[in-house]
Amino acid sequence: MALSGTEEESSTHELLNAHAQVWNHMFKFILPMSLKCAIELNIPYIIKNHGKPMTLSELTGALLINKGKSHGIRRLMRVLVHSKFFIKVDIKDENGQNEGYWLTPSSNLLLKDSPLCVTPFLQLVLEPDLMKPWNSMSEWLADDRVTAFETTHDLTFWEQAKSVTSVNELFNEAMKSDTQFLSHVMLKDCEKLFEGVESLVDVGGGTGTMAKAIADAFPEMKCTVLDLPHVVSGLEGVSNLIYVAGDIFEAIPAADVVLLKSILHNWNDEACIKILKKCREAIPGKENGGKVIVIDIVLGYNEEDDTMKEDQLFQDMTMMLYLNGKERSEKEWEKVFTDAGFSSYKITPALGVRSIIEVYP
Ligand SMILES: C[S@@+](CC[C@H](N)C(=O)[O-])C[C@H]1O[C@@H](n2cnc3c(N)ncnc32)[C@H](O)[C@@H]1O
Repeated sequence: MALSGTEEESSTHELLNAHAQVWNHMFKFILPMSLKCAIELNIPYIIKNHGKPMTLSELTGALLINKGKSHGIRRLMRVLVHSKFFIKVDIKDENGQNEGYWLTPSSNLLLKDSPLCVTPFLQLVLEPDLMKPWNSMSEWLADDRVTAFETTHDLTFWEQAKSVTSVNELFNEAMKSDTQFLSHVMLKDCEKLFEGVESLVDVGGGTGTMAKAIADAFPEMKCTVLDLPHVVSGLEGVSNLIYVAGDIFEAIPAADVVLLKSILHNWNDEACIKILKKCREAIPGKENGGKVIVIDIVLGYNEEDDTMKEDQLFQDMTMMLYLNGKERSEKEWEKVFTDAGFSSYKITPALGVRSIIEVYP
């Protein structure tokens, strides 16, 4: 008797679907690689600058490529139209009826002159040297290194960022672009979050993108950015914003509110509890406005959208391989908050893939 799901029992239709799924997975790396190529060739910006949908010959004419390889652009654009980074629209020109490429909401986020441009994040994620840990996943699962990053590079990610200037710059630019995007949404839709707050410290605040946006939106608020010396050295504050070099495991400057954006998912539970205890020491009681604002993924929230769910799972794998961190469900967050001595929390899933969690002493 054939076992359920074996080759003998499958219809040809099922068999071909299964085969297509394997091929689809196997070749899916072509999507980010195609996007990277389009960005390197500056295609989104060139189309936007054209001011109207651009025909293939106009596009290939504008690109710095070997014109004998123009067929490559047609095929590259076909993939990117399929994955909804561009659309093809009918246009009428001097040659009669034609078709032109135009941008979509997703390619608008790749425009280098846009304040919401997320391209530096893509460049970090796809940097060949930083992609190596993905090739060492099974080796890491068998060895005794904490992360696959260490299996590959012999250093932790933070050590690598400290010792290799180009990695530090690439990472800081990536985080800046992500935070520029997220602070735009957060300050537009969630400004109540900062009502009555007189002082805030952005812990692990990188080069200060989030703190600058908050300091601009609330000129009365005193903002501090705490990060490692190699990240904040040489950065100049403004009247209501200062930079402090330090270690989140040692001491956190006192403030009404501590902000932790994309921090706790970098660490395991034990480290998160240590960081949160330091945060607890830095803020007043709940009755005096003390709270910690965590911006991170809450697994289970917004996952009815398949793209968002997949993004959350991808982030979890990334945190595991690079940093020994993880994405957490509400239950896992609750445990970490309780173990760090906090009394309650409120989740607002207002940031797409990520959520805002207000945590109270
Ligand atoms: C994922 S980034 C997030 C940066 C910023 N919050 C943002 O979202 O743009 C994590 C930050 O934590 C900082 N960091 C890592 N270990 C740290 C430590 N022990 N003390 C202070 N900052 C640290 C890194 O330098 C980096 O800027």
